[in-house]
Amino acid sequence: MTSSLTIQRPDDWHVHLRDGAILRAVLPETARHFGRALIMPNLLPPMVTLQDAKAYRLRILDALPEGADFTPLMTLYLTENTDAKDVKAAYASGMVNAVKLYPAGATTNSASGVADINNVSQVLEVMSEIGMPLCVHGEVTDPEVDIFDREARFIDTVLAPLRRRFPGLRIVLEHVTTKQGVEFVQNSNANLAATITTHHLILDRNDIFKGGIRPHYYCLPIAKRALHRAALRRAATSGDKRFFLGTDSAPHLDPTKESACGCAGIFSASNTMACLAQVFEDENALPKLEAFTSLSGPAFYGLAPNPGTLTLTKGTALPPLAPIATDDGPITVFDPGFPLCWHVNT
Ligand code: NCD
Ligand code: ZN
Repeated sequence: MTSSLTIQRPDDWHVHLRDGAILRAVLPETARHFGRALIMPNLLPPMVTLQDAKAYRLRILDALPEGADFTPLMTLYLTENTDAKDVKAAYASGMVNAVKLYPAGATTNSASGVADINNVSQVLEVMSEIGMPLCVHGEVTDPEVDIFDREARFIDTVLAPLRRRFPGLRIVLEHVTTKQGVEFVQNSNANLAATITTHHLILDRNDIFKGGIRPHYYCLPIAKRALHRAALRRAATSGDKRFFLGTDSAPHLDPTKESACGCAGIFSASNTMACLAQVFEDENALPKLEAFTSLSGPAFYGLAPNPGTLTLTKGTALPPLAPIATDDGPITVFDPGFPLCWHVNT
C-alpha cells in the first residue's frame, strides 16, 4: 500500500476567488497547495476587459499572505460587446490566459454573458488565430430543458457546431459532469480539453437529497447520476492529457446557501488535494494523480509544470474542517462524506 506520494506542485484550472473580504479569506486556502490558478471573472460587475483583469490581479496579489508562492492566471468574461483587439492585447500581456464563455443566465453572475454565440464570432476568430483558449460553461439555459440534461444538450446544440465552425479554436469544457461530455472530449482532438472538479468525482445527484436537502452540495452544473460520476472518475484517472483539475471552488457565505433559494457553488479549496488523493487511491490510480493535478493542465495552457513539489502522506483521519471565517460571515468547506486520511505537506 502506498503511504506517501510526492508530486509536482498542482494548479487549479478553474477557481472563484471573489473579491474583498471573501477574497482575503479564501485566497490563502488556494495558495497553500496550488502554485497557480485560473481565476474566474464572474464578479459583479464582471471582469470583461484587460484593464479589469489587471486591476483584479493586483487585488489578488495584494490579498496574498506574506511569502506565499502563488501566481493568479486571469480570464476575461466574454460578452457580446467584447472587443477582439482588447482580447488580443490581454493574451499578449501574458497576464490573461483565457476567455470565459458563460451562456447568459446559466449560473452565478452570468447575466452579462453571451445570449447568441453568433454574436461573438469575431472574437472567436481572433482567439483561434492567436491560440488563446476559450473556457466554456457548457450548459444550455432554456428553462424547458431538464436541469440534468443541460450539459448533454449544450454539447449537441452549441459545442459540436462551435467546434465545426472554429476547428482551430482551443476550448476547455469546464467542470464536465456527464458521460456524454467525457466521450465528446475523448472523440475530439488536442484542441478540446475538459476540467473536472473534485466534488463531481465524489458526489452523485442522490447526495444532494440524502436524508434531507443539502444546500452545500448544490452547484452548477448539478451533480448527475452515479454512472456519470463513474465516467468522470475513469477520465480523471486515465492519464489522458485532455482531462485535468479545475476545482470550481466557489465560495458563498453560508446564509446565502442555507436559504429558501440557495446559491450554486461548492467551496473545496481547503481539502481538494486530500479528497483527490482518496479518490485516486480508491480507483487504484495514485500514480495518475500528478498528471491530473500538475502536468496535463500546464501542458494544455503551454506552461511548464510548477517547480516545487507537494507530498501527500496517508495517516490518521483528520477532523472535519471548520467553516472559513470571513469578515462577512462563515463559508462551509466541502464535506466529501468520507474520512480524509491523506495529509498534505508543502
Ligand atoms: C459558480 C459560482 O458560484 O460562481 N457556481 C457553481 O455552482 N459552480 C459559477 C460556475 O462556475 O458555474
Ligand atoms: Zn465555476
